[in-house]
Amino acid sequence: MSQANSNPKVWATRWTFILAATGSAVGLGNIWKFPYMTGVNGGGAFVITYLICIALVGIPIMMAETALGRHGRHNPIQTMFELAKENGASKNWGIIGIVGVLSGFLILSFYSVIAGWSLSYMVDGVSGVFPSLQGDAAGEHFSALIASPGKLILYHTIIMGFSAFIIARGIHEGLEKSVRFLMPALFVLLMLLLGYSAFTTGYFMEGIKFLFVPDFSKITSEAILAGMGHAFFTLSLSMGAIMAYGAYMPKDAKIGSTIVTVAFFDTFIALVAGMALFPIVFANGMEPASGPGLMFISLPAAFGQMAGGSIFGTLFFALVAIAALSSAISLVEPAVAWIIERFPVNRAMATIIVCALVWLLGLASVFSFNIWSEIKPFGKTIFDWLDYVTANILLPLGGMAIAIFAGWVMKKEIMEKELSLSHGGFTLWRWLIRIISPLAVFIVFLNSIS
Ligand code: PFF
Ligand code: NA
Repeated sequence: MSQANSNPKVWATRWTFILAATGSAVGLGNIWKFPYMTGVNGGGAFVITYLICIALVGIPIMMAETALGRHGRHNPIQTMFELAKENGASKNWGIIGIVGVLSGFLILSFYSVIAGWSLSYMVDGVSGVFPSLQGDAAGEHFSALIASPGKLILYHTIIMGFSAFIIARGIHEGLEKSVRFLMPALFVLLMLLLGYSAFTTGYFMEGIKFLFVPDFSKITSEAILAGMGHAFFTLSLSMGAIMAYGAYMPKDAKIGSTIVTVAFFDTFIALVAGMALFPIVFANGMEPASGPGLMFISLPAAFGQMAGGSIFGTLFFALVAIAALSSAISLVEPAVAWIIERFPVNRAMATIIVCALVWLLGLASVFSFNIWSEIKPFGKTIFDWLDYVTANILLPLGGMAIAIFAGWVMKKEIMEKELSLSHGGFTLWRWLIRIISPLAVFIVFLNSIS
């Protein structure tokens, strides 16, 4: 074995980083959140703002996070403090790391609950429930699930349990092994679903039009904020996840091209999920703007009508749960890495502490769908608030801070060396990270506040 392979704190190869980072990026954000947000925010108008945000803001910041992580080689909190010191800047930049890890914590608490919904639908698939979900029954089935705190807690517990198990085993045995087969499997299944949508629903072109033909009157400041927040969410940015994974990246791997690859996979999967889902939504006369239930209502109904739909549907929801799991573990890792490096605690113990706390917080999201559904400060449930505050406030602001730090505080030579872009590529990256990304976040933010 080469030195890099045997070092427990470095990924085996560049490809392992790609798989792990893709595992983090590809998840509920692509298959569940992207389609429903597109539905709520006006179809193509949302998709186009989202794509622009990925290219101009998401990718440059993702490169920056990875480079900061690899240069620091520690957990995100310590990395940020050390880089600030190394580059002669104020200690306060370390707050980026702290806020990031905390945001990850908040996100995971509700992410795990939604991942649990997929598990529940996987069980439904096995029990042959899908064929009975025609017409209103599909919506009623979903409402019954979220009305049941017991079921939601059960599946939330299973997801957190699996995450804890994988993280406790460390990056080689846990993380690497889990992503190597799962990501390709998810991809194949999505393509099959796309084929089904294209050839049997008769509504394929309606779906494509909805996704790709923008109605510019729907580009409101709220929709742009949502698109930008989602760009951060879907690429796993500003939560320390990518920074933590970057810390395990081999020194000689090229960050620039690696990150473009990851972002491409992530975007591609989201678009395929949208192209697969919307024709089914339209063919069944469903409302595209129906919110978080979209995937859990329209897909089971479609599976119910397909030949072999129960097997196919079971597999699909299993893979969604797995995609969610590989994202969930990337949200646990930063906090665990921090605890291990900061306190005299081993990995297993740190994992238990983090996962237990997240689990507990997750109960608030569970209850906001049922016994606490009437608790709505300023019109949003606790779940809605957690989602809104993290995606629309903490992630963009954290990303802006990372951009400013990487563009203005970090020495240019360090970033140039870490990213290994071509000369023109680096110049472009630097313009984007110093001016365009911070400015874009700032403007979108101001607009949506006023
Ligand atoms: N990127 C993941 C998704 O699209 O589902 C969600 C996510 C994972 C966000 C990890 C943040 C994170 F650190
Ligand atoms: Na994603």
